[in-house]
Amino acid sequence: MIGRSNGVPVSITGLGTYAPERVLTNDELAELVDTSDEWITERTGIKERRIAAPEQAMTDLALPAAREALAQAGVEPQELDLIIVATVTPDMMFPTTGSLLGDLLPAPKAAAYDLLAGCTGFVYALAQAQAMVSAGLADKALVVGGDVLSKILDWHDRSTLVLFGDGAGAVVLQRVDDGGFLGFELGADGGGGEHLWLPGSGSRTFENPDKLVKMNGREVFKFATRVLVSSAEAILAETGRTIDDVDVYVPHQANTRIIDYATKKLGIPEDRVVINVDRYGNTSSGSIPLALADAEAEGRLQEGSLVLMTGMGAGLTWGSALMEWTANGRTT
Ligand SMILES: CC(C)(COP(=O)(O)OP(=O)(O)OC[C@H]1O[C@@H](n2cnc3c(N)ncnc32)[C@H](O)[C@@H]1OP(=O)(O)O)[C@@H](O)C(=O)NCCC(=O)NCCS
Repeated sequence: MIGRSNGVPVSITGLGTYAPERVLTNDELAELVDTSDEWITERTGIKERRIAAPEQAMTDLALPAAREALAQAGVEPQELDLIIVATVTPDMMFPTTGSLLGDLLPAPKAAAYDLLAGCTGFVYALAQAQAMVSAGLADKALVVGGDVLSKILDWHDRSTLVLFGDGAGAVVLQRVDDGGFLGFELGADGGGGEHLWLPGSGSRTFENPDKLVKMNGREVFKFATRVLVSSAEAILAETGRTIDDVDVYVPHQANTRIIDYATKKLGIPEDRVVINVDRYGNTSSGSIPLALADAEAEGRLQEGSLVLMTGMGAGLTWGSALMEWTANGRTT
């Protein structure tokens, strides 16, 4: 799916994040499985990641991120019409994390649901919320992306364990005078789904349903490098922009080798790329909002900055959002 936003302009008016306090270093992982700081750093760029406490679930990560985003936007939770939580690690299948979050905020007027699109979930959720707000179905929407992947990892499997971390981000979407989202490109290929999957987590019966993440790293690497480039090029062409116009590039934070490949292939100067995978690992749907927040804190997101975000992950799925950044307080 690809399209330009051709309705009322919609933008991000508030941004918040939350990452659990516990920092897990590569050296600590090397005490658990046969790996080393050197191997992890060289192959992935990751130095440390955050790990949720045993009692923390997705709602506990989403709530502080949502409150921060709402405060930045100057929006009361009671004003929200819509909550979408993009996650593959909901507290439970139902009630959804969106519903639970709506109760905790509280946001009694809001429609609330979860969205499952792997690490691309945040970009998919942005597209849905943007369309609903632009069309007038909702005025104020909250999009949360995040995961507690540490709860579904195989802590004996070095090939997946070292890559992932826990974290969440949230954004408020509202109509603005101009700027905001220019368009989206979203895709899915279930044929490659078995390269990154969670067998036994649903209604399909498996012989060994241990409900832990399984991945073919080499296949996912090939897929990721391909779609990061093709999706970005597609949305730029669709919106009549070029790579030279992009001020801030926020790729899914999976691995610095994947990001470096895409950056070179796309021809984006390194100083326009946001990278924080070294501190968080791959936080799935939390990755893009966590990176956006870092870029904002560093003063890299200015009024009118052209921001390109591209996610990819389980499904297999991918998606890009292109937007002109808007400062807060410009909502209509
Ligand atoms: C997982 C990944 C880092 C592996 O890197 P790689 O360079 O492809 O490594 P390979 O899979 O070829 O494995 C090389 C060797 O390292 C070993 N290895 C794997 N994980 C290891 C670890 N954590 N520590 C030490 N050695 C490890 C392998 O067993 C293999 O050993 P062998 O040659 O004796 O069989 C890489 O494939 C990758 O990043 N894939 C994408 C994963 C991803 O981003 N997934 C999420 C997408 S949302």
